[in-house]
Order: sequence, then C-alpha cells, then structure tokens
Amino acid sequence: MESFVIKGPAKLEGEVKVSGSKNAALPMVAASLLAEGKTVLKNVPDIRDIRNLVKILEGLGSKTNFKDNVLTLDNTNIKSCRPDFKLVCNLRASIMLIGSLLARLGKVEISKPGGCFIGSRPIDIHLKGFETLGAKIDQRGEIYNITVDKLKGAKITLRIVSVTATENILQTAVLAEGETEIRLAAIEPHVVDFCNFLNKMGAKIEGIGTHNLKVTGVKKLKPVEYTIIPDQIEAGTFAIAGIASKGEIVVNGFIEDHHESFLNKLEEIGANFNLENDRIAIKPSRVLKPVNIQTEIYPGFPTDLQAPFSILQTQAEGTSEIFETIFEGRLNYLHELSKMGASVVIKNPHQASIVGPTPLYGTHISSLDLRAGATLIIASIIALGTSEINGAEIIDRGYENIVGKLTSLGADIEREVEE
Ligand code: UD1
Repeated sequence: MESFVIKGPAKLEGEVKVSGSKNAALPMVAASLLAEGKTVLKNVPDIRDIRNLVKILEGLGSKTNFKDNVLTLDNTNIKSCRPDFKLVCNLRASIMLIGSLLARLGKVEISKPGGCFIGSRPIDIHLKGFETLGAKIDQRGEIYNITVDKLKGAKITLRIVSVTATENILQTAVLAEGETEIRLAAIEPHVVDFCNFLNKMGAKIEGIGTHNLKVTGVKKLKPVEYTIIPDQIEAGTFAIAGIASKGEIVVNGFIEDHHESFLNKLEEIGANFNLENDRIAIKPSRVLKPVNIQTEIYPGFPTDLQAPFSILQTQAEGTSEIFETIFEGRLNYLHELSKMGASVVIKNPHQASIVGPTPLYGTHISSLDLRAGATLIIASIIALGTSEINGAEIIDRGYENIVGKLTSLGADIEREVEE
C-alpha cells in the first residue's frame, strides 16, 4: 500500500509540462503488434499502465526498451496469443490486445480487462465489431477465446460511441480484406492521434476526426516512429489545480483546440487565464461563480475532468450541478470530498450538487479511481492541514511523476510506502 501525504494549503506557482497522452499511447503500444520490426514511440508517459502493457507485450515475445519517454518495441517475433491474465486485469487498455493479436496472429486468448471501477464497463461493442469482421468468440467465464480465418471488411455501427471500441475495431479493420465503415466512431483527440499513427504505418483510414470512419484494408503495415500528443486530461487537471490554489502557474502542452468545452466552463466559473502557443497561464481569480457541468463525448465536457472540476465547484459561491452521463460509478469520490468538508448531495449515480464555498480540511481519504485520485490531490493541496490519500498506485497508473511535478510547483506532497 502506498499513500500520498499532503500538507496544505499551498499556492501553486511556476511552470509545469504535460506528459504524453496516456489514452493515445496505450492503444499505440498494443497496435505496434500489427507490424513486424521496430516501432519507436516518443513522448510516451512513464506511468504504471504503460509499464504493465509493455510487460504484457514482452510476455508475447516483444523486445522492448523504455527510456526518457521513448519506447522501442521490436515485434519481430510475436509467438504467443495469450497475454498474461493477471497483468491484463490491471488495466482497461489491455482490451486493445484483442484487436491487435487477432489481426497479427488470427487468434487471442484473453481475460476480461481491468481498469478503474467507474461503472460496469461492458465490452459487447468490441466483441460485436470483431464478429462482424469475421471473428468467432468462445467465452468461458471471464476468459475469451477469439479466432478468425480471414478478416473481412464490413459496415459497423457502434451501439454507442466508445473510445476503445472504436480503436480496437479500427486496428483490426485496417488489415481486413476490403472496405470497413465504422459509424458512430469516437473522435476524442487521442483517438485522432491513434488514427494518424495507424495511417503513418500504412493504413488507409479516411474521415479521421468524424463519427464516420472509412477504412480500406491493406495487406501489411510497417513499423514507424511516432510522437504522441500531450495528455488532454493531465493538462486540464493542472489548470484546475492552479485555479483552485489561487496561484499563478503556466501549463505547457495545453492544446486549446482539445479543450473547447472545458475552457467554456472555466470562463463561466470566472477563472482568470490566458492562452498562447499550446500553453495556459493561470492567474488568481477573484470570485468563482457556480457552474453546472454535464459530461459528454468529445467535444463535450470530458468525463475524465468531471471529478477534478468539482474542486472548483466546492469553492464557487452558490450551488453547482454535476451530471455524469457516461459512467454510473463516477461520483463516489464525492463521499471522500464530503469528509474534507465539501457540501455535497449525491442525488443518484449520475447526478449530484455541490454548494460552495466551503473550506476543505485535510483528513484520511481514499483514491477510488485514477481521476478521483487526482481530484483528492488537488483538494488536499488547498485544504487546511494534512491529508493522507490511500491508493497512490492507482494515481500512478495515469499521471507521470505527479509528486515531482507538484513539488516543483510548491506543493508539500510526499509518498509513503507501507510495508
Ligand atoms: C476510455 C478511456 C477513459 C475515458 C473513457 C471515456 C482509455 C484507455 N480509457 O475508456 O479514460 O474515461 O474512454 O472518455 O482510453 N460501453 C459499452 N460497451 C462497450 C464499450 C463501452 O456499453 O463495449 C460503454 C461504457 O460502459 C461507457 C460508454 O460506453 O458507458 C463509453 O465508454 P468508452 O468510451 O468505451 O470508455 P473506455 O474506452 O472504456
């Protein structure tokens, strides 16, 4: 068990650089299996999810090297179609191995992927997509045996927009015979980055950035070098931390175009900021106004910033509403915020209201999922007294060097390891 001990309150000051996008890097690592030879990924965040996925690939036969955010994967000899069951359960993105192993070896035996407990997170859309491309699925309990003789392009309309289902089906379709159309495809910036990566490998995907992707199957893909975009969610999280702490910080790697809905909400709440050249400069705000947020698929307000944004709502003067439309288990962190002094009413699994402003006080709290963990860190930075956040490992899954980055901005944060 590891925990973060944070002494507050602190006013954050200085500059921070956003790491590469977790949700772009993970599918790219999995999709590197589509090509024989050496794939080189640059600006890869050094986070637990990446380390675990790389370990899984090593178990399949990949030779890897990960240093200074450059990840080399030599996938010349991939022999196994059986990713390590235990490691697969550690992260959601391991589901991407179904598509890449199916396209590479024609078969995959895999356990149900893990990841944050933020809802039931079924995988029916992925499986239906593979079946439509010609795969046969045998499910025994939590183990899936999936095989295909020949992948054949098809028209697939996703039941609902899903990020990893879009990416998973897409990476299989690029090597299927003929044309595939994926309708209701996800268009998050990291999905677009993933499509660009596949096209650099030689895939033929049209309609990138729209909900209608058209793929012309190719016989082979080549390994490439590719630089990953900055992490949209980490960028937003630091911006929120700066505003909440009433400090002056600059977040480098904040791509304005990725953040339209988020920036609209920052304006509405009365945050003081400037944007220029892929950076956001945060200045102290006078008074924060209450703001309602409703999570949506991109370009709507991202579900991954819903929890961090709630800290601003606890400091706004009046009642703010939260409507989490995508996951049914994403409001549980509000119980932890209540322990710190936030005035919260959870109306149902999707809706809550927060009445502010309330001071927050340091206490013993638990990081229930990745984004909830980042939220509690921000809360603890602005809280009076000392907080201890259990579950530091969960936060390490998605935020590179969080202690180092926040310490450089003036936060008093330390990691404690319990034997
Ligand atoms: C990805 C991100 C995660 C983010 C989420 C929403 C990665 C590794 N993770 O998760 O950080 O919070 O997008 O932006 O990129 N669904 C089904 N059946 C399926 C697949 C999804 O019902 O087969 C549902 C989910 O339960 C959810 C909705 O679709 O309600 C959207 O989920 P999805 O976009 O698939 O999220 P993930 O890809 O799991």
